[in-house]
Amino acid sequence: MTQLFINAALGQPTKRPPIWLMRQAGRYMPQYRKLREKHSFKEMMSHPDLITEITLQPIHEFHFDAAILFSDILITADALGCPVKFVEKKGPVFESPIRTKQDAQQLSFDPSLTNISFVFKAIPMIKQELIPFDIPLIGFAGSPFTVASYMIEGQSSQTLSEVKKMSAHDPETLTILLDKLTEVTIAYIKKQISSGAQAIQLFDTWAEYLSWDHFKEFSFTYNKKIIDAVKLEFPHIPIFFFSRGGSLFLPFLKELGANVLSLDWRCNLKEVRQQLPDHIGLQGNLDPYAMLDPQPILKEKVLRLLQDMQPFKGYIFNLGHGIMPQVPVENVRLIVDTVKSYIQ
Ligand code: CP3
Repeated sequence: MTQLFINAALGQPTKRPPIWLMRQAGRYMPQYRKLREKHSFKEMMSHPDLITEITLQPIHEFHFDAAILFSDILITADALGCPVKFVEKKGPVFESPIRTKQDAQQLSFDPSLTNISFVFKAIPMIKQELIPFDIPLIGFAGSPFTVASYMIEGQSSQTLSEVKKMSAHDPETLTILLDKLTEVTIAYIKKQISSGAQAIQLFDTWAEYLSWDHFKEFSFTYNKKIIDAVKLEFPHIPIFFFSRGGSLFLPFLKELGANVLSLDWRCNLKEVRQQLPDHIGLQGNLDPYAMLDPQPILKEKVLRLLQDMQPFKGYIFNLGHGIMPQVPVENVRLIVDTVKSYIQ
């Protein structure tokens, strides 16, 4: 089973696509909500035993073909000394957002990443628990632009107006911040791999707000630097790149050096397949809202996507973005069963 996922991630043909879901450990699961009553989100992502338990919850329940480390992309901001808080019903908050050159210059990280060492303690514990399932562990990090957006805005934003302001009036500060995030992300990913992560996904959720030129300047350049650095040391570890709106930027994404592009639900994956060279894999892209459909409609949509993506070569089934808290667990079971029993 580990091989099914790794083969698909490395662009090889498979009998069926492997399936996992972004945010597969989360609030749609009663087991997760039960633990969450006792612990804050920050607590849950900071203790190796809790990280292990939560990472395993969706594996025990649904038998996905891969596990993803339970953590959050904003941990690299923490590592740089800019702590994030997760506020109930509001999401991530930075009490001291990065707005000036001095703010950005003050950030630094300890190369051994001791302040987030709980992640590297959790990874071997998770690997041990995964042995009977024979599935791999995916590590991940946020892309510099997406993490920087939160650090600059100070919280989730629908407009990224502070980021836009900075890119126009003070691009040097943005560049300093992106450079620092790039360095910490390279160190963080390398350490996840040397602790046991078998694949890596980079999340660039907010890049869709960028213009064509700014995508190249503020997203592509830094993500490429990360992928090149990781590939140099770990050439056989597959790297996935998720971007919302990524299909708008395919000419750039093709050149990233990622093994797999994970795309959102607003593109036709079959058409994208025809535009990409053969060695680049694809992941996605069921509409996350389809998970709320009546089961026959949901099943029909899954089957249509599977049919579109045949013959299966370098294809991993996933949603076009993270699973939402209101999704019924029976619908998750339905899509896992449908994908697993679909042999071409
Ligand atoms: O995929 C996984 O299962 C691994 C864990 C994971 C989480 N967040 C857990 C989480 C991953 C890979 C992420 C990525 C992440 N986090 C992204 C990029 C992908 C995306 O979904 O857009 C972003 C932008 C974040 C930042 C973040 N973290 C936000 C905006 C929020 C609040 C979201 C909300 O709906 O309230 C979080 C919190 C968060 N991260 C939760 C989980 C399970 C919910 C925490 C809780 O309250 O229990």
